[in-house]
Amino acid sequence: MRYDVSPRSSSLIPHNLPTWERLAPILPLTAGVNDAGHLTIGGCDATELARQFGTPLYVLDEATIRAQARAYKSAFATHYPDSAVAYASKAYLSLALARLLAEEGLGLDVVSGGELFVAHRAGFPPERVHFHGNNKSPEELAMALELGVGRIVVDNMYELRLLSELAARRGVTVAILLRLSPGVDPHTHAYNTTGLVDSKFGLPIVTGQAEEAVTEALRLPGLRLLGLHAHIGSQILELAPYRQTVATLFDFAAAMYARYGPGATERGTTESPPTFVLAEFGPGGGWGITYTPEQESPTIPAIAETIATAVRQNAARVGLPLPRLFVEPGRSIVGRAGVALYRVGAIKDIPGVRRYVAVDGGMADNVRPALYGARYVALAANRLHEPCTQTVTIAGKYCESGDILIQEAALPPLAAGDLLAIPAAGAYCLALSSNYNLALRPAVVMVCAGMARFIRRRETYDDLLRCEA
Ligand SMILES: Cc1ncc(COP(=O)(O)O)c(C=O)c1O
Repeated sequence: MRYDVSPRSSSLIPHNLPTWERLAPILPLTAGVNDAGHLTIGGCDATELARQFGTPLYVLDEATIRAQARAYKSAFATHYPDSAVAYASKAYLSLALARLLAEEGLGLDVVSGGELFVAHRAGFPPERVHFHGNNKSPEELAMALELGVGRIVVDNMYELRLLSELAARRGVTVAILLRLSPGVDPHTHAYNTTGLVDSKFGLPIVTGQAEEAVTEALRLPGLRLLGLHAHIGSQILELAPYRQTVATLFDFAAAMYARYGPGATERGTTESPPTFVLAEFGPGGGWGITYTPEQESPTIPAIAETIATAVRQNAARVGLPLPRLFVEPGRSIVGRAGVALYRVGAIKDIPGVRRYVAVDGGMADNVRPALYGARYVALAANRLHEPCTQTVTIAGKYCESGDILIQEAALPPLAAGDLLAIPAAGAYCLALSSNYNLALRPAVVMVCAGMARFIRRRETYDDLLRCEA
């Protein structure tokens, strides 16, 4: 197997091999190969980055992040002008990233006091922050009220009552959306599925709990119900589940409008104040990215067109005015921008079985393969001109047999000291990272136009003791 790294010479490459063109959608937009056969990202030689900053190293390509953010903004502006794009910061958040995305005019979706704190410290405009989560604590909700976040996306009845109490006690009215569970299967990994009726997230529509929440939200003090939200999962490669979600939510919105909207009291259908209007609508995020050449992920214009068309058609179908639209991509903004660099160490041959190539990271910095069988490709970042003649297993260094980053990776023959790159590592790697085996979390550098800057230093052994009593 061989990677063709020259942009347009695929005719020289046997038909079944992953050419650079097939790898390109997995790599950052600025990825290339230099004369030495080294991977370059953002104009920086990966081997030089590894030498300077050490490994494991997470490299984020600024141009790719900005391009994805702009692509989302412009696609939604084109297809649905009254819309806003919020980055789902659970995919990865740091001060530098929050600032960059604020500059790009995005909003931010946070799910914890920690994410909210980082957003605040980064100076992210609080009115552009949406606060999600299925079990926000009283302290987290109070913090959100204190900082003035734009929307709180209420997940359940407990939260609704708690938030009402907290807001009323402060004498404020907080803008909320209700997160509903629409009962839609997005055909992704079970751990990444969040919109089924049997889910810890959201208020189910079919059980009547979503309607109960609407009536409570209209009745309780301190709350201003602006609309509805759903998020059906992550790493979703199909667009049909989104159409289904939008249709389901609009059916529900129409029923609520009929019962609790302006005019309902006059028609004598309810005693409640007639105030339900679908002013805002959020179909969540979750759009998948390409991790391996066989995968195909939806393009951003296709995502925007699908969502915008579904909203327009369903609003017309049920006779509701068009709401303001919020979308929350996470993975698809940062995933492709990130490349993990590892140094090869021990190589273990089991004759007739397999060759294990161990690297200096693994499940502590990327638990996705162990957690849900996520698949990746690897590149020999210092030997891109060499043919991929071997199939090996890339093992991490942590004390779990499940700490395997890639089961079958096509690579040139490797030796200790070689540099391995795993692309599409920008989302849900560092965000899910741990100190397992008291590993030090890796450094993160942002690269742009031949320059690299630390956005997070490597942890030190002293960091491991910071919280010890
Ligand atoms: C409420 C909400 N919105 C958006 C997202 C973003 O998902 P993704 O990073 O897959 O786009 C998530 C993550 O699962 C989420 O929980």
